[in-house]
Amino acid sequence: MRNGWLEIGGVVVEDPFLEVDPEGFEFTVDDQPWRYREKAYLMIHKPGDYECSHKPKHHRSIFTLLPEELVNRDVQCVGRLDEDTTGLLLMTDDGQFIHQMSSPKRKVPKVYEITAKHPIDQAQIDQLLAGVLLHGEYEPVVADSCELVSDTVLRLTITQGKYHQVKRMLGAVGNRVEGLKRVRIGALDLPADLAPGEWRWLEAEDLEKLKPA
Ligand code: URA
Repeated sequence: MRNGWLEIGGVVVEDPFLEVDPEGFEFTVDDQPWRYREKAYLMIHKPGDYECSHKPKHHRSIFTLLPEELVNRDVQCVGRLDEDTTGLLLMTDDGQFIHQMSSPKRKVPKVYEITAKHPIDQAQIDQLLAGVLLHGEYEPVVADSCELVSDTVLRLTITQGKYHQVKRMLGAVGNRVEGLKRVRIGALDLPADLAPGEWRWLEAEDLEKLKPA
């Protein structure tokens, strides 16, 4: 706490030993309102050309889209999206939450909207639903569901999270991903009013949607 920076109820706090009840505690730092949160859970609409890394190689870091206060809290990505993938990305400083959400046992469904290079036919959908063996893997990966939106756009649900999984799955059935957007995790949708690059807190009802069904 530095002099003049912290305000509670519009009053500047100068006492560094002031004790507050953390429950529902609200304050402003440099005129920016905050609510005390023991753990930070948020969603961000990942734009293309951002990397889910603190040390990006070719593009900007997704962490540059967050306020410094959250980066300083050591908020991390809950799984990664490729640099060219857009859409719903969760972030938190709760290591246990990251572990649970990423656990293969938990089988969290993730829905991707794929724009394919070639028209997607029923034979490709059947293969995706039956399971495809990806290069270097021993077990096939399956699509939990496939919904054709147009002849080149497919909504694909998977519960695994292997490296470049969706792109490799489409490649395995003889097609190619040209655009990839994650639109849903568990029962939590990417909100229509969250623009690319914007983030927001996950509230209790959002976290509820991420619990196993
Ligand atoms: N599958 C991919 O191929 N890329 C992603 O970013 C996410 C899932």
